[in-house]
Order: sequence, then structure tokens, then C-alpha cells
Amino acid sequence: EEEENARSLQRYKNLVSNLPKGEASAAFEDFICLYQGFWFADVHCQGVLAVQDHFKARSTDVIIATNPKSGATWIKALVFAIVNRSKYPIYNHPLLSQNPHGLVPFMEISLYNNRIPDLEILPSARILATHISYTSLPQSMIDSGSRIVYITRNPKDAFVSYWHFKNKMRTVLSKPPLNFMEEFEQFCMGVSHFGPFWDHALSYWKASLERPQHVLFIKYEDLHADPVLHLKRIAQFVGCPFSSEEEKEGMVDEILKLCSFETLSNLKVNKTGKITGAPFPNEAFFRKGQVGDGTNHLTSEMIERLDQITEEKCHGYGLIM
Ligand code: A3P
Repeated sequence: EEEENARSLQRYKNLVSNLPKGEASAAFEDFICLYQGFWFADVHCQGVLAVQDHFKARSTDVIIATNPKSGATWIKALVFAIVNRSKYPIYNHPLLSQNPHGLVPFMEISLYNNRIPDLEILPSARILATHISYTSLPQSMIDSGSRIVYITRNPKDAFVSYWHFKNKMRTVLSKPPLNFMEEFEQFCMGVSHFGPFWDHALSYWKASLERPQHVLFIKYEDLHADPVLHLKRIAQFVGCPFSSEEEKEGMVDEILKLCSFETLSNLKVNKTGKITGAPFPNEAFFRKGQVGDGTNHLTSEMIERLDQITEEKCHGYGLIM
């Protein structure tokens, strides 16, 4: 089996090297490539191919899907806390000593990074994450009826957040910061990791309309505005609704507090810790955690341009971002 896996991995490498290429724009890749209509860092694309070939979904799986910098850290923490709430007391919770990305890893980035893991050994309910668009998910994830929680964010904040994140990574690796204007241009053209950003969100938006029992679509801004409502929605969706007793005991607020930006960003593990294999420290996942910071960094022309793309691409489908 090991030999077969090694052969598969070599095949993915060859496939990726033959895909249409763009220039690298972060720190960890040699180039980005276009696969099934979306742009991936070469290393991530190999992971995507491996996930598509090897991942066997279960109906009990909870898959967290996101565009980069749209709230994965937050939603991973929330879903993990919801699903495992009878296992761990809040005062001694794994989220207090581990980063959410360690507890709920990205499949194509971490688990399938140059290897084929055996995920059959994981007990149900597995909580896994991905940046793959809905249209490129492994078929078994759709057929099995796994539940998919998607979180998106307005493109202005997501773009600015990612720009900061990538530069943080580059600093660690002693690379110069990226040019803001050039990155912006690429983002608008759809050439961004796991993008086009809008097509990504739309793929899950459409799926959430077609298969509402299986795909839950959440916006970072809505989660900020009414966290209680959305936490209950998520719990209901993943099949672990809060009982009225739990609500009376304050469980909803406890989970929200545990997973809040303030709590998580101030933990020792997230100030000084690092996930195995990650080239950057956990603190890179926490910057401001606010809604609307994008407009502090973008000119009015840039804002107008992003708003216009969003309108052109999304509004016809009823998706407002
Ligand atoms: P900012 O850069 O705007 O601060 P992701 O988790 O998908 O990588 O997205 C990162 C963004 O989510 C960052 O946004 C980060 O600060 C914010 N974030 C991380 N943890 C959060 C939390 N618990 N609550 C709210 N926002 C959070």
C-alpha cells in the first residue's frame, strides 16, 4: 500500500506540473495552478487530487468549508465545541490548549500534504475542513450526505485579511512583503488561492439552496451580528441541537465565550504556539477579528471595484456579500 500511495503522490505531482500556471503569491508554493476552474498553490493542488481520489466520506462527517480568511478559525472552534460539548468541561477544554486548526485540520493542506492518511481510524463524528469549492469536492462527500458548514465573508475584509496573513508568513520566511496593488489586481481577476473568491462562495450558495439539509451557508458578518442565533442554527444543522435545559444553564453563551476572538487570541497556545508542520505561528490566525476593516486599507476606487464585481457575479443568484 505504501508503494501504491507513493506512486499516487508522484502522479499528482506530475499532473499538477502540467496544469496552467500563474505566479506564486504567498510563501510556501513554487507556483499556483488552475484546476477545475479554481486556483491553487501547487502544494495544495496535490492535496486536492489526493482528497478527491482517497477520501471516503461518512454520513456523520461534518465538513467545514471556507474561502481563505473568511472565519475558518472561528467556525472550527464553534463546531468542535458544539459537537463535543458532552465530552469536555469548558474549564478543561481542548480549545484552551490547542489551536482550532490542530483540532480540525484542513484536508488538502494538512492531512493530505504529500501523504495519504488513513482517516478510517478516526471515530465518528469526524470534523474536517477544506478550502475546496463545492464543485470539486470528492463525490462521496455529496453522496454520503455529510453535513457541510460553509462560512464566507465580504470580499473586502477577506482580501485585506489574507494580504496581512500572507505577509506574516513571508516575514517568517524572510521574504519581502507582497505588493498591495498587484495582489488586489490578481484577486479581482479571480487569481487567488482557492479562488475566484466569488465563484467559491457561489458554488456553496447554490448547493445550500438545493440541499439545505446538507449545506449550511453562513456569513462571518451575520455570525458577528447575532452569534446566539447562528450558534443554535449550526447546532441544529449538525444534529446536536441545544436542549432548553442547556440553554437555561447558559451553554450557548459559554461556547460563544470560549470561541470568541478575545478568549482564543489571548491563550498561550495561540500567542506562542505553532501547529506541527506550519511555517508560521498560531498568532497569525488572529489579527483584529472585526467586520469592516477592509475599508481602512482600500481606496474608494478599490472598494467600488470589489463591490461591482460582487454585484455582477452574485446578486443575480440572490447572494449579497
Ligand atoms: P482579520 O484579519 O480581519 O482580523 P480564517 O480563520 O479563515 O483564517 O480567517 C482569519 C480571520 O478571522 C482574521 O480576520 C482573524 O482575526 C479572524 N478570526 C480568528 N479567530 C476569530 C474568532 N474567534 N472570532 C472572530 N474572528 C476571528
